[in-house]
This record gives sequence, C-alpha cells and structure tokens, in this order.
Amino acid sequence: SVSGDADVYRLAQRAVEAEILPGVRTGIWGYNGTFPGPLFDVRAGRTVRVEIANELPVPTSTHLHGGVTPPESDGYPTDVTISRDGGFRPHMRGHNGMELSPEDWTFHDGVRAYDYPLPQRAATLWYHDHRMDFSAPQVWRGLAGMFIVRDDTDDALPLPEGDRDIPLMVCDRAFTAEGELSYPALDPSLREIPGVQDAFMDGVTGDINLVNGAPWPELEVSGTRYRFRLLNAANARRYRFALEPAPQEGPPFVQVGSDQGLLAEPVELAALAMSPGERRDVVVDFSGYPVDTEIRLVNRLAEGAQRNVMRFRVTRRENDDAEVPRRLADVEVLRPDDAVRTRTFDFRRVLVGGSGGNMNWTVNGAAFEPGTPLADPELGTVERWRLASDFHHPVHIHLAHFQVLSRNGRDPGPQDAGWKDTVDVRPYEVVEVLARFDGFRGRYMLHCHNLEHEDMAMMADFDVV
Ligand code: C2O
Ligand code: CU
Ligand code: CU
Repeated sequence: SVSGDADVYRLAQRAVEAEILPGVRTGIWGYNGTFPGPLFDVRAGRTVRVEIANELPVPTSTHLHGGVTPPESDGYPTDVTISRDGGFRPHMRGHNGMELSPEDWTFHDGVRAYDYPLPQRAATLWYHDHRMDFSAPQVWRGLAGMFIVRDDTDDALPLPEGDRDIPLMVCDRAFTAEGELSYPALDPSLREIPGVQDAFMDGVTGDINLVNGAPWPELEVSGTRYRFRLLNAANARRYRFALEPAPQEGPPFVQVGSDQGLLAEPVELAALAMSPGERRDVVVDFSGYPVDTEIRLVNRLAEGAQRNVMRFRVTRRENDDAEVPRRLADVEVLRPDDAVRTRTFDFRRVLVGGSGGNMNWTVNGAAFEPGTPLADPELGTVERWRLASDFHHPVHIHLAHFQVLSRNGRDPGPQDAGWKDTVDVRPYEVVEVLARFDGFRGRYMLHCHNLEHEDMAMMADFDVV
C-alpha cells in the first residue's frame, strides 16, 4: 500500500536488496523499494496525484500504461526526473548511437508529480519506467507495478471480490550465480558470448517466471470462483497460460475483461495468449477440483521448468455467492464507418544510416525521433490504424483505446475482444484497429512493447489535435 493524504500518493524509487529467490539477496530498483511497486486501487474519474522521488543513480520517467492521462503526466521518454544526489543528465541515446540535443529533454530535480484524472472505465492498468533508451533494463530491475481502477458498473456485478479478486503480475527474469539480476546487454562479461546480442535484438527473456515478484509461488484457494487480473509485465516473453490439470467440467478460464475493462459478454477460453503489456481479467472456478489438488498455471509456449508460472492448492470448501453474468457491460462496438481516416504503421527491422549503419527496429522505416509526430488525429474522432509487422511486435498506443477489427483481413476472434490498448501483431500480419482519441490534446506515442525494441527506437510520436 502507499501512504498519502486524500488522493496524493508519494513514491520513492530506491535501490534496495530484496529476497526474490528464497534465501538470496538481489539488488533491485523499486518504487518504494519493492518489486512489484505498490498496488494502487483507485476510483475512475477521481484524480490521483502521484509524487515520485527519484533516489536512483539514473534518470527515470513513469508512464501509467492504459491511463487516459494529460500529456505532461504521460511519462514521455525524455521528460525525466534526476535524483538530487549523484544522478546524471543524459545527452546521448543508448542503443542506436544517435545523439539527442539538450532541447529534447525536460529535467525535473529530485521529485515530480504526475496527475491521473482517470476519465475512463474500470480497468487493470499498470505503471512502469519509460526512460528514453533504457526502459527495458530499468523495468527489468524492478520499476513496475499494478494500478487497478474501479467504478460502479464493475462493482455492481456479482464477480468474485475481496480476497478472491487478485492481481497477478507475471514476468520473467534471469539471475547470476550470485543472485543478482542478469541483463545481458548491460553486462560487459556477457557481451562477447555468441548469441547474446541476437538475444538482445529479439528482446531479453529470463529463465525464471515471477508472479508478483515471487518464483513459482503457491496460492491456497477455496473451491470457489476467483477473479485474476493477469498482466504480462515481461520485457519480451509471450505467454500462453493454461491450467494443469484442466477442470473436469467447464472452461479453464472465463475471460470477463481485457486491457480496458469489462467485455460485453464473458468468453470461455482453454488458454490465454498474452504478449508484453497486455492484461486479461479472468474468472477461474476451483469448485470442480477435489480438496488438496495442486493446479499449475503454466506457459504453453515454454519448455521444462520455464513453463512453471504458479500453483494453486485447493485447501477447503467454502460458499460461493459469486457468479459470472451472461451480460457484463454495455460495450459500444466501433464500425469501420466510424473511422474518419486510415493510417498505416509498419513495425519492421531495417538498416538505418546506409551501409555503415545499424540494423534497427523502426516504425515506417524510421528510428524514433522525439518531436517528429507521424500522425495528428483529432480529439474525439475514431481512426482506423493498420499495424503491420515482420516479427512479434506487441503494439501499444498511449491515451487511445481501441478495438481490434481484423487480423490479415479476417475476423480477429474472441481472444481480441473488448477495448484494448496493446495488441500482439504477429509475424507478417496486418492488424487493423479502430482507435478512439479521447481525453486530451497533445503529444503521445505508439510503440512496440517488447521493451528492447522500444529502447531500440521502435516508437513514434503522434499529436492529438
Ligand atoms: Cu507500457 Cu509506452 O508503455
Ligand atoms: Cu501506455
Ligand atoms: Cu517489437
């Protein structure tokens, strides 16, 4: 929990030692020195001010992912806070060697306030570092947490609540033999190992999954329904979650919400595919399992111990007055006719800077240049954005929420239902979304949420005008 008066919360970003692996001390960077950072549980439409003090040796910028946030509080990558002692002012780009000029930066000394007015539906959001060129290693070290927004519509449903409504932040990490977090691209001793730089190009993955900062945790459950708010907070790993054993009867997962809150109707799913940045709100019914059963949440996209995510153990029978209604919410369905224009964004790896240049992850063939917007949607309008890809790129749009219209021209299917802010664009795929630009005018961005790709400049500005 976070301390503060009324709706002002104060967080400090600190370097501390934490116990992530049993009995091992690991240096992390955490909001309030914890990983994940404090869990926010707030109301839609009520402004939350978060004052963040940077006590780390590096600049930071904090973004509320999925938040309808004014641009000055959106965590733009070069809008950074420098710690009062020992922090340095960046002047160079990290991974693609291009220089930024001093005018590209805004510096805050020590502490800065972010205002989140939250004019939006109940949803499971998250917050994380967004510093230019270094979001990936800074999130890897621990700068991420969850942020639940509630409203009356969601509260009124008979879904599981209280201690049966549980956020699960899932990510993967690698550790050195000494127990420190290992991030290959910044570890000079690993640089020369064949394959390390390729691994960096594709996004950094670890061999241990963590749930709310713990490896392979066990949750004791009663034989009732639970609501799990799943977040894929990994830098680059995709998950396909499944339950083993699956329940004898009924679907393993009933999805009730997506990135941006409730679906119109529940969707029954045997497995949940989630790319980095995505959230899924699901109900799991443990009533079909005998007491003492251990149920494993696994990642079907991995092998061996890397499949292990977490365990549930049914320890008791209890009354269950929760249920999943057939109608969850009124969700307006956007239609192609609602779009006032169509734009294409091509997420691709290209050679930037001629034959002596670098391979770079780009949007429309260009590496990110702060202050050069690729689009200027009008406030209050809907646009059709075509997102094309050469690889798995989980594309995230700030501010705007969208609905997935098609994948390679076909109906996207139930996995993409509801209002979203992040969508996995798969290799050689074109995903069309209908995005509504609501809330605020100003500068925002879209980018690949594979955090290494984001740091390698697969980002673009757009201006809401
Ligand atoms: Cu979750 Cu711009 O990122
Ligand atoms: Cu975002
Ligand atoms: Cu990508």
